[in-house]
Amino acid sequence: MLMTLAKIFGAAAIVLFALTLMNFALKWTYRNYPNYFKKHPKYAKVHLALMKPFVKMHKWVGIGTVAAMDAHIVLAFLSEDEFNISGIATAVLLLSQMFIGMYGAWAKPKGKTWLIIHRIVAFCAIAALMVHGILTD
Ligand code: HEM
Repeated sequence: MLMTLAKIFGAAAIVLFALTLMNFALKWTYRNYPNYFKKHPKYAKVHLALMKPFVKMHKWVGIGTVAAMDAHIVLAFLSEDEFNISGIATAVLLLSQMFIGMYGAWAKPKGKTWLIIHRIVAFCAIAALMVHGILTD
């Protein structure tokens, strides 16, 4: 029962994580394929309309990702009573990611160093999550 619940929260965390990353995916494609968007103005409108809510909700979906991940960790630990190294690595990355995002969003530091770190940590977290998914039943 506890493990089933842990898996549900784990799946929710993955979905929220993917939605958090849509911010980057939509902006990156828009920035890097200007000719495609010029050629397809109708799709460009849809793309921009999608981008707005994803960028707006990014902070809260990111916090939601970590909340779902926390519930997943507590339930998985209560059910298995053992530590999972790849899970801990993913959790450390995502938790740091949330705090870096909060710092960038609300402390408003000068420069873009925090954003570069925020992007790098996002990719490390994707890699860690994939390893965690492969190594864990
Ligand atoms: C699972 C957690 C998170 C992931 C994977 C994540 C990932 C990313 C990525 C990849 C970018 C770069 C977008 C670009 O290149 O334009 C970004 C931007 C940003 N993130 Fe996060 N983020 C997370 C959580 C948060 C949180 C919790 C906050 C703040 C409360 C936050 C605030 C921001 C801000 C302000 C930006 C730059 C402006 C924007 O694109 O909205 N992020 N995030």
